Amino acid sequence: MKHIKLNNGTKMPMLGLGTYKIGGTDVDVYNSIRSAIDVGYRHIDTATLYKNEAAIGQAIRDCGIPRDELFVTTKAWGTDILTGNIHKAFSLSLKMLDIDYIDLYLVHWPIKGKEGNTWLEMEKIYATGDAKSIGVSNHLQHHLEKVLEVATIKPAANQIESHPYLVLDDLISFCKHHNIVCEAWSPLGSSKVPLLEERILNEIGNKYQKSPAQVVLRWNIERGVVAIPKSANKERQASNIDIFDFELTSEEVKLINSLNKDSRTGIHPDEIGF
Ligand code: A2P
Repeated sequence: MKHIKLNNGTKMPMLGLGTYKIGGTDVDVYNSIRSAIDVGYRHIDTATLYKNEAAIGQAIRDCGIPRDELFVTTKAWGTDILTGNIHKAFSLSLKMLDIDYIDLYLVHWPIKGKEGNTWLEMEKIYATGDAKSIGVSNHLQHHLEKVLEVATIKPAANQIESHPYLVLDDLISFCKHHNIVCEAWSPLGSSKVPLLEERILNEIGNKYQKSPAQVVLRWNIERGVVAIPKSANKERQASNIDIFDFELTSEEVKLINSLNKDSRTGIHPDEIGF
């Protein structure tokens, strides 16, 4: 596993498990987390919205891996922010997960006109020490600029939809310039698009004896982006994390970048409503 250093010195595993809609029941969620940890995952990403924090927390507490070897992210939902309840929401996430601290707490989506004020509340949560790092999610450059105008603590991370059909080079460069680590959700493009059938990905995969999914995940590592693919399937979980024994050339990285279509599978961050 490779780690990346956040702007406050803490280290984040560059491959984590996304958990949005990972399972039907709490038992499914629990089993998915246990199998992911079994095959080597040490980074789990959840959110208030996903309603799976309790099952994830139980798996974390049962798995036998020391807490300080695991990296847990959760996120504040917009309605809690809009109603002034972000602190309550954070406490509830801690309680549901039933762990002593959150490694990374994120603003799940930007709220138009409230980016700065929301961030100031996040800084208060950081000051309690119960969130080791704070950041944002789904923030475009103009949202981040509002945050940076007021921030005394810069966001450590920005988690965004990104894959070879949505490369977001400019946003990622902006984040790097401000020492904000980018994380890619739906790094495999989700099941809505046939990304993994792309000829380029298959050809590169053949060269390294890797699957197209492994090539895409490795491409994230090469561009300094953390990836959080979701899989409930133990074999796919294992294969998605098996990307640290090969490297892509800069030419291959460029070829993958050339698949960009600026096309999203999820909602545009300017169109989210609560
Ligand atoms: P599964 O859980 O059956 O593995 P997201 O876009 O939210 O990250 O979801 C990723 C989707 O891609 C999930 O439906 C997951 O299904 C599937 N998936 C995860 N890893 C792979 C892989 N290596 N190859 C193909 N599909 C994958």
